[in-house]
Amino acid sequence: MLKISRLSVENADSYIVTDAAKPRFGYAVESDGQNVTVKKAVLRVGKWSCETTDQLAIPYEGPALQPYTVYRAGLTVTASTGETATRDLVFETGKLGDAWQAQWISDPAYTFTEKLVSPKPMTFRKRFAAGKKVASARLYATAMGIYELKLNGKKVGDEYFAPGFTSYKTTLLYQTYDVTDMLAAENELIADVAGGWAVGAFVFTRKNRVTADRQALLAELRVTYEDGTSEIIGTDPTWEVCTDGPYRMVDLYDGETYDATVTYDALPWHAAAVETLKISPKLIAFDGEPVRAHEVMKPVKSWPMPDGSTVYDFGQNFAGVVSLDIDGKKGQKITVRHAEIVDAEGQPNYAILRSAKATAEYTCGTDGKQHYSPTMSYMGFRYIQVWGIEPEKLEVAALALYSDITSIGRFECSNELINRLESNIIWSSRSNFIDIPTDCPQRDERMGWTGDICVFAPTACFHYDMSRFLNKWLRDVVNEQLPSGGIPNTVPIQGYGFPATMPAMAVAFWGDACVMVPWALYQATGDRQVLRSNYDMMKKYIKACRFWAGFGVGKGRYIWQLPGVLTFGDWLAPDSPKMSQWQARNKWTGTASLKNTSALVSKIAGILGEKEDEKKYADLSAKVADAYRSLLTDGNGKLKTEFQTGYVLPIHMGIFEGEEKKKAAENLARLVKDADYCIATGFPGTPYILFALADNGQEETAFRMLTNTKCPSWLYEVRVGGTTIWERWNGLGEDGLPLKVTDGTDNMISYNHYASGAVGDFLYRRVAGLEAVEPAYRRFRVKPLIGGGITSASASVETPYGEAASDWKLADGTFTVNVKVPVGTECTVVLPDGTEQTYGSGEYTASCAV
Ligand code: BGC
Repeated sequence: MLKISRLSVENADSYIVTDAAKPRFGYAVESDGQNVTVKKAVLRVGKWSCETTDQLAIPYEGPALQPYTVYRAGLTVTASTGETATRDLVFETGKLGDAWQAQWISDPAYTFTEKLVSPKPMTFRKRFAAGKKVASARLYATAMGIYELKLNGKKVGDEYFAPGFTSYKTTLLYQTYDVTDMLAAENELIADVAGGWAVGAFVFTRKNRVTADRQALLAELRVTYEDGTSEIIGTDPTWEVCTDGPYRMVDLYDGETYDATVTYDALPWHAAAVETLKISPKLIAFDGEPVRAHEVMKPVKSWPMPDGSTVYDFGQNFAGVVSLDIDGKKGQKITVRHAEIVDAEGQPNYAILRSAKATAEYTCGTDGKQHYSPTMSYMGFRYIQVWGIEPEKLEVAALALYSDITSIGRFECSNELINRLESNIIWSSRSNFIDIPTDCPQRDERMGWTGDICVFAPTACFHYDMSRFLNKWLRDVVNEQLPSGGIPNTVPIQGYGFPATMPAMAVAFWGDACVMVPWALYQATGDRQVLRSNYDMMKKYIKACRFWAGFGVGKGRYIWQLPGVLTFGDWLAPDSPKMSQWQARNKWTGTASLKNTSALVSKIAGILGEKEDEKKYADLSAKVADAYRSLLTDGNGKLKTEFQTGYVLPIHMGIFEGEEKKKAAENLARLVKDADYCIATGFPGTPYILFALADNGQEETAFRMLTNTKCPSWLYEVRVGGTTIWERWNGLGEDGLPLKVTDGTDNMISYNHYASGAVGDFLYRRVAGLEAVEPAYRRFRVKPLIGGGITSASASVETPYGEAASDWKLADGTFTVNVKVPVGTECTVVLPDGTEQTYGSGEYTASCAV
């Protein structure tokens, strides 16, 4: 049977509202036959149709789409077997640039001048009649700050932190809500607007008012009645406003204070006023992945504290909010603090949150049962400490909040510690994909650190369909690129200054995100537009890197070295105790980065048909490789100054070739052995060390490192109880107690940092052996690497063409692998005895003696 298993528009297969003028479609087909391909596909949107054999990124080329319109797309696929299948998809257009019939409004009575804190939450109200029968109603809304809407007492939509975090000065997103069924004859629309990223205190310096001096709201309700008439209600001075609503305090780091004794009816409302913004961004229909509530977490343990409070342990570190069922008394105040770890005596550790108070405070509105869950802030935590209520009167749960990225990957093997590692990687992804890719969810950062997603993107793309999420963020990377080509270390910058203030400043591995993230996304999705829309940025970035590498003499002009303090070098390498030592390695990391990014940009140029650039960047990359070999090594695969990352990067990034590479891998293996198979790489080396070893004759060393449980290693974290990936390998001691940070990095230990979880890539591509040979897995390979005592492994990925899977086991001297090959793709299976066979779509089993 033939089935279209997925039809997407703009990479979404559920209902979306889009402002894309030419939305693009993709589909996957399933068949129980073998060697099936698509012979013909007909896509129809309204009266327009096209015939294609492509399955990815098929652009709509029909007459201009109209705003505010529901469109139905239909797809009919004919397979090589002659069978056909059909599938429909409905989507809607947003404003498509149509002018807003609404004005930005704010509270003219509120002046916000305090430093380091977030503004008072602002509440808007509009009462209106909708006297006739409503056929359809859409509410378009956005804000300076983050907003939550209630229509007739009910929350509108199910997302958190709208309108989302973007480079506000260039792009502001708006949401579209279908409120057809929520309207009554008389209506009350309430909008609570907190400071969020735009106005509130953000980044560790707690800079506020970066984008606007106070909150503002823009909303437009378009109602169509059954009699064919319509009405538009936009924000204007007839709306009411005040700063005395039930949200008493909201701050992304400090949490939320909510007083349920305050009712909207009794507020001192006054007229809103038109607000002039200091920015003029482009307004676009939200095109990321909305943050939503996912898993409901329940405590696994609790204990009383001497001061009468109770600590609850959820058994899992995550990002989100508590969800409390309270049996209280009117006016009773309940305080909840959040922490990732506990010290001795079960005391939650708040010190590592630095300035973030991470506190939710609720005042009961009535006597008796009531529910509270924060909606305008989030925390990263495993433990909570609760004051102000007896445990019998409280039922505790929590909601994991993260962007609604679709889970597409699964990995598992016979080693339970590795399975827990995989789970920890996934939890750290969830906790840090909160509208933008963040570094951590708990302390006073939660910023779009470029270096973290730069190294983690390939692993992320195994686990999730990252298209919408990362494309949204990449648009901001383009927009925030410095005129001279450098990429800010955090995107959006939003109050963080470095290196924005430095001309042409480029930071290896962090700035590299502008090449590596699009490349990872392209590998996973096959979408060339990802490359095209980021291409100019990549070229400008390489130019900036090249500038900084140009100060030496002779071959030294290709060694990229900066004064240590301006870079991150081998960030957090555990074999060197001080930050200045990690940073000082930037000569090696910088030069390898330039080799790697210029080689990638050359490849990308080739894909995009930019012949001259292809050659230019290939030449640059060859010169940089030569400089690394000539100046930093003995020319025979041995570094003059040896350290793990110093070998990993040139081995993995094509600086060493042939015999020299083999020798370098032997030298790396020696260093690893000397370190007792412990890891000594920082952010730049960690994702690639196992590949550098395993792909160059050092498989056994790679597996010993992967399965090592001594500190520092991936499985050490698992062994001593980690439920997420940590910023530092030694986050907990053998005694389970937290690390005391004394190296002057301001308590820099987060227990939810995905960067070193980049090893997930190795689990999929080598342990399970599932690897794309062509983007989007159009051609892929299943070539499991056996070792480490692992006797079975399986992985699957929902590729753009459908599910690709590898599932192998080793028993009684026989290796057996089952593979699944999606329609439209081809897979080469390579068995441990070296035999290989290529298959078209279908399910197959192959085996050999070992
Ligand atoms: C963050 C990172 C980031 C780093 C840059 C840290 O404070 O948490 O993960 O990449 O700074 O140096």
